[in-house]
Amino acid sequence: MKTVAIVGSPRKEGNCDLLVKALCDKVDGDVESFFLNDLDVRFCDACLSCQEGDCIKDDDIRKIMDKILEADLLILSSPIYYGQITAQLKTLIDRFYQVSRNPNKSLEGIKVIEVITQANPTDIYDDYIDFLNKTAIEFVGMEVIKTIFAKGAADKGQGIDNALEEIENFEIKI
Ligand SMILES: Cc1cc2nc3c(=O)[nH]c(=O)nc-3n(C[C@H](O)[C@H](O)[C@H](O)COP(=O)(O)O)c2cc1C
Repeated sequence: MKTVAIVGSPRKEGNCDLLVKALCDKVDGDVESFFLNDLDVRFCDACLSCQEGDCIKDDDIRKIMDKILEADLLILSSPIYYGQITAQLKTLIDRFYQVSRNPNKSLEGIKVIEVITQANPTDIYDDYIDFLNKTAIEFVGMEVIKTIFAKGAADKGQGIDNALEEIENFEIKI
């Protein structure tokens, strides 16, 4: 099994980072992890050159996309910033467009596990994440099999115990 894990938080050893590491420790097979904030990740220009060939951007998304296209499982993580995912993760998701527009490439059937961290202890962002899944992740053909929320998680490593337990008890079936 091939897994690609994306840390969409800029905070090293932060909540997403710790939870993604816990998930990666659980999965069998090849696991490759990317810390988006350390990489050269450029915005989609909407040039639509991907309709005829590859994305023209020669940045680190190229190698991440190649890995995602071969993956069985994609782990996506982000803290909530002002009620939404980070710009880092959103930029990667925008770049999925190059695959959805290209008839020779497909993200169809890739399973996705999400990790969402937030300081707010309530369910306030659940609907937004559902909407994001329908309009972006499932729109490009991937299937969200689990969303792990760490609610009430503010400082590094604080408020993530429930999420760690959920990861511990979650049986990953691909
Ligand atoms: C710029 C910024 C905006 C934030 N906005 C929100 C927010 O709207 N709602 C919330 O619950 N937490 C918000 N937070 C808190 C983070 O979501 C929370 O600390 C999270 O656990 C950080 O995860 P990380 O350690 O992986 O970066 C914000 C944090 C930052 C730095």
